[in-house]
Amino acid sequence: SRSSTKELLLNAEKSGYAVGAFNVYNLEGIEAVIAAAEAEESPAILQVHPSSLKQGGVPLVACCIAAAERANVPITVHYDHGADKHDLLGALEMGFDSVMVDGSHLTLEENILYTKNISSLAHAEGMLVEAELGRLSGTEDGLTVEEYEARFTDIAQAEQFIDETGIDALAVCIGNVHGKYPPSGPNLRLDLLKELRALTMKKGVSLVLHGASGLPHELVKECIDLGVRKFNVNTEVRNSYLQS
Ligand code: 13P
Ligand code: ZN
Ligand code: NA
Repeated sequence: SRSSTKELLLNAEKSGYAVGAFNVYNLEGIEAVIAAAEAEESPAILQVHPSSLKQGGVPLVACCIAAAERANVPITVHYDHGADKHDLLGALEMGFDSVMVDGSHLTLEENILYTKNISSLAHAEGMLVEAELGRLSGTEDGLTVEEYEARFTDIAQAEQFIDETGIDALAVCIGNVHGKYPPSGPNLRLDLLKELRALTMKKGVSLVLHGASGLPHELVKECIDLGVRKFNVNTEVRNSYLQS
């Protein structure tokens, strides 16, 4: 059945688990995620990236909503990586349960203004708002260690960001990357995650980790123990589709 992302994350918070948010591109992807969630008797989030929305348009979102309603586990529909204001304003009219306001490419001040502005509009529609602080790297970025770590989420900035924007969920950068991890495996700053958790718990904000494809199960469990309540998964879903 269709639920609200707010309720999914609240329940996850209460019981100490995390919800998977899976990027979908088409009907097959939607059906696969729901079949897996039903098999696991687990809630799940269907998420649509702006570039997929450009292809699939309103019918793709309508399919997500219809599939959520038919499912026998709680499912919600989320707008992923809203980096463009115009696109995001359009998404607010499409019936999503929640949105990610992604100002991570902006300066802190600009990110705060952007996120605060969109959050208030999304909240007025009853949506949950996720936002990102710090900057997720891709494996192809070719950064030095210093440049890479400079993109990690800063605690003091995170406090200011949460206070000034009123967001519900915070996507953090602790060494997680979109796409593949290097052959040596992921190297997450779990100490930083712990500090971020102390902060978000105090503020009543849920922790989100993007780039979950490629994280070993043990590490996923550790992250859940350290408070992550939503994991974003794209690459693994897409790869299994392409291989099938
Ligand atoms: P992965 O492709 O690494 O799973 O990242 C997905 C993601 O963060 C979508 O927002
Ligand atoms: Zn992401
Ligand atoms: Na990844």
